[in-house]
Amino acid sequence: MDLTLAYRSLVLQVAEHPWVKGLILRRGRGLYRRYVAGETLEEALKAAEALEKEGVHAILDLLGEMVRSEEEARAFQEEILKLVRALAQKPWPRYVSLKLTQLGLDLSEELALELMRGILREAEAAGVFVRMDMEDSPRVEATLRIYEALRKEGFAGLGLVLQSYLYRTEKDLDWILPYRPNVRLVKGAYKEPKEVAFQDKRLIDAEFLHLMKRMLREGVYVAIATHDPRLIGEAKRYTEAMGIPKDRFEFQLLFGVRPEEQRRLAREGYTVRAYVPYGRFWYPYLSRRIAERPENLWLVVRSLLGG
Ligand code: FDA
Repeated sequence: MDLTLAYRSLVLQVAEHPWVKGLILRRGRGLYRRYVAGETLEEALKAAEALEKEGVHAILDLLGEMVRSEEEARAFQEEILKLVRALAQKPWPRYVSLKLTQLGLDLSEELALELMRGILREAEAAGVFVRMDMEDSPRVEATLRIYEALRKEGFAGLGLVLQSYLYRTEKDLDWILPYRPNVRLVKGAYKEPKEVAFQDKRLIDAEFLHLMKRMLREGVYVAIATHDPRLIGEAKRYTEAMGIPKDRFEFQLLFGVRPEEQRRLAREGYTVRAYVPYGRFWYPYLSRRIAERPENLWLVVRSLLGG
């Protein structure tokens, strides 16, 4: 396993420790501000508006995952519907991301499907695009089944995510290709064992480029979601060389990460979206961001020291 991935694995493990979690929840407020737009919908809409002014579109994401009761899942659905209704009033591109475990996937696939259906009915009427994030490997198959079911029911404004670190992803792409999918391609953010995922950054990057190029060649609309300058550069070069127009793909980055690059890509005429998370349940999201970059450990230390 390479060092960056070993670091990620360690951070994600330590982050689950109740003592660490308690400490970060008490003292890590300054830290979460770097990656999260705020705890309320109003704060998220304000952040989205500021991005719009810079030519970057927002993907609104109500934080929450792994709910433990149907009541909680239904409460999240209600909050997401509030978001959809608020976006319906906005003049900018309307875009939402969500997680199926937020809608009760771990309780029952039928429940998550039913709650997704309710969201998509309103979202389609309001012109809001909805993307299902991809979570850890035990949930991939169910996520793809739900995607397939909803596309078969005729919901068109629905996208999903593929992760280049999983060995299975190319076969998953074959599975969903008949539905003319809108795919966000990412490297993958979870701690995955070597039985299911590449453990070497070079292989994950190579697979990312392979999948990206295949999708672009086959006419899949691709949201290229990475901050990696090498991969972004290669995406630009490849699309130019192949004559793939800029309306066949876009770049997506996370709120708070490389904001100057987000603006630069937008100025160059690319569609750019920033993933804007908000809400009270920011801890797992923040842990994954810290785990992505060893330098971020200093942010944790500084924030705990009150800096
Ligand atoms: P990599 O980790 O190699 O980083 C490249 C460079 O980017 C770093 O050297 C650094 O400069 C910068 N960088 C990266 N992460 C940073 C951070 N946290 N803070 C500061 N700088 C950072 N994953 C998943 O499993 N399911 C999903 O649904 C999604 N959804 C998603 C949406 C969007 C819009 C993005 C951008 C990413 C995701 N991800 C995701 C996360 C993704 O899998 C991956 O973990 C991160 O994007 C980090 O990987 P990079 O591709 O940026 O490369």
